[in-house]
Amino acid sequence: MSTLSVPSFSVIGGAEVQNALEGRHKEIADIIESAYLLHGRGDTVNPPSYFLRFPDRPSSRIIALPASVGGEFGVDGIKWISSFPDNVVAGIPRASAVLILNDRTTGYPVACLESSIISATRTASSAALAADRLTAGRERPRRIGFVGTGLIARHIHAHLLGTGWEFDAAGIFDLSAQHAAGFADYLGRTSGSAGITVHESAESLIRGSDLVVFATVAGTPHVHDPAWFEHNPLVLHVSLRDLAPEVVLAAANVVDDVEHCLKADTSLHLAEQRLGHREFVDATLYDVLTGDWTPPTDRPVVFSPFGLGVLDLALGKHVLETARAAGSGTVVDGFFHEVRRYG
Ligand SMILES: NC(=O)c1ccc[n+]([C@@H]2O[C@H](COP(=O)([O-])OP(=O)(O)OC[C@H]3O[C@@H](n4cnc5c(N)ncnc54)[C@H](O)[C@@H]3O)[C@@H](O)[C@H]2O)c1
Repeated sequence: MSTLSVPSFSVIGGAEVQNALEGRHKEIADIIESAYLLHGRGDTVNPPSYFLRFPDRPSSRIIALPASVGGEFGVDGIKWISSFPDNVVAGIPRASAVLILNDRTTGYPVACLESSIISATRTASSAALAADRLTAGRERPRRIGFVGTGLIARHIHAHLLGTGWEFDAAGIFDLSAQHAAGFADYLGRTSGSAGITVHESAESLIRGSDLVVFATVAGTPHVHDPAWFEHNPLVLHVSLRDLAPEVVLAAANVVDDVEHCLKADTSLHLAEQRLGHREFVDATLYDVLTGDWTPPTDRPVVFSPFGLGVLDLALGKHVLETARAAGSGTVVDGFFHEVRRYG
């Protein structure tokens, strides 16, 4: 007779998620690195994301990211994340999400976590981790520039500062003057207003930055001229669709996962369509983390992270364990009701 039993089901709200993650940038970076290493070693399952789109609301979408991660995490599950860009006009965040974690033994869902914070955190942490490793052994860039200044840009800045980065200058470019001003205010509050410049064009921002973060919602490339990058900056291309193929092809390209990144009309996908091959992808983040690939200094380096569901699961599992240890979260008694096979 097997001793399997139906597990309990917990709901972890945003405040509890935030409590579990706040200020723990280095700990989170370690979790993200472990998840990437497991992915690189093949101890994950990360099928293509499913994009649910709506003919009557073309700018909106909901993405399903099912995944499984082994190793010390040992969890399966799915992230279900909406992007409704018009929300921003009403002053509420564009993205909202839940994460369902499933027990590996019984398959039962064991938790539903608010996941916009987990998603932003894992995105920012992976960008900061990549920036750290892609500049290892060199002087870190001290002039940062943000193209697109929403929630993700703010989280990336926080994770860079939280893992020891310091900047002499911060540039901002956003199509919305209001968003640019809001972000300038945030930067002033967190790191002092010295050296903050709101740029009138992406070109002047890129030319004046050694670390360029793209976190826009651009659906098609709006940066076409490789000459803007002739000073060989490190580029964190988190929004994936900003750079024209000619910019991609003039750079050294690092991705988190080749298959995922070259899909859905990302800049790299467009470059592949133009060339008919994907040899312009130089390395994965795994290659960088394991020291198998060293970035060049005579070309811009572009990191394009698709953002793997395995990262959400790894961080979500950590949040669940932290919340349970702190006695927080809500256990929904009797959530699974019909638990006897023959009643
Ligand atoms: N790769 C990943 O893992 C990952 C994970 C999460 C989010 N993202 C992406 O990050 C991006 C930013 O997300 P967010 O939540 O911060 O969005 P947001 O809506 O809060 O902010 C986006 C900002 O970009 C600005 N913008 C749009 N087009 C621009 C352009 N061409 N030039 C300059 N600014 C422009 C907007 O005015 C807005 O201020 C999204 O594209 C999202 O899909 C990627």
